Amino acid sequence: MNRPWISANFAISADGKITNVAQRPSGWTSKADHARFLALRKGADALLVGRGTLEADRMTMTVPDQEEQPLRCVVSSKGRISPDHPLFQTAAGPIHILATEGAENPDLPGATFHQGSLADFLEETNWCVSRTRFILVG
Ligand SMILES: NC(=O)c1ccc[n+]([C@@H]2O[C@H](COP(=O)([O-])OP(=O)(O)OC[C@H]3O[C@@H](n4cnc5c(N)ncnc54)[C@H](OP(=O)(O)O)[C@@H]3O)[C@@H](O)[C@H]2O)c1
Repeated sequence: MNRPWISANFAISADGKITNVAQRPSGWTSKADHARFLALRKGADALLVGRGTLEADRMTMTVPDQEEQPLRCVVSSKGRISPDHPLFQTAAGPIHILATEGAENPDLPGATFHQGSLADFLEETNWCVSRTRFILVG
């Protein structure tokens, strides 16, 4: 079976927190941390994020200095994302949105919508890439 390889990538504070009280990005603790994060992304065929993180971090889901960009995958129940979000304004990998309950606004620029379970989505998008490495970014 051609299963995707999935890595989960997140930062955690010494007291167990993954975000601050305002749910805003808190920055990198060191250059080495940031370099490690970019190295992980560079090995990925696809990046996968929840809609909350996409919105909170205003992510473009790009990999710097790399010609072949990973798929940019977002998980949501209804796919309610503003077309003005930087994701849609930045040229990079193809955008795939899993709207588990069906998309409310399926006309988001350049996005392919999927409906169903996360497991089915991973299998579907797995066929879009030559290798099979996903990175879960949130
Ligand atoms: N420390 C770190 O490394 C790190 C990494 C990433 C994020 N963060 C932080 O985490 C915070 C965001 O957290 P969050 O609680 O909003 O989590 P999240 O998982 O990013 O977003 C939650 C939303 O994602 C969608 N979703 C997630 N799983 C789903 C599923 N199985 N099926 C359908 N939809 C699903 C839903 O969107 P809908 O509401 O559209 O249905 C849900 O409301 C931000 O503050 C961010 O900065 C920290």
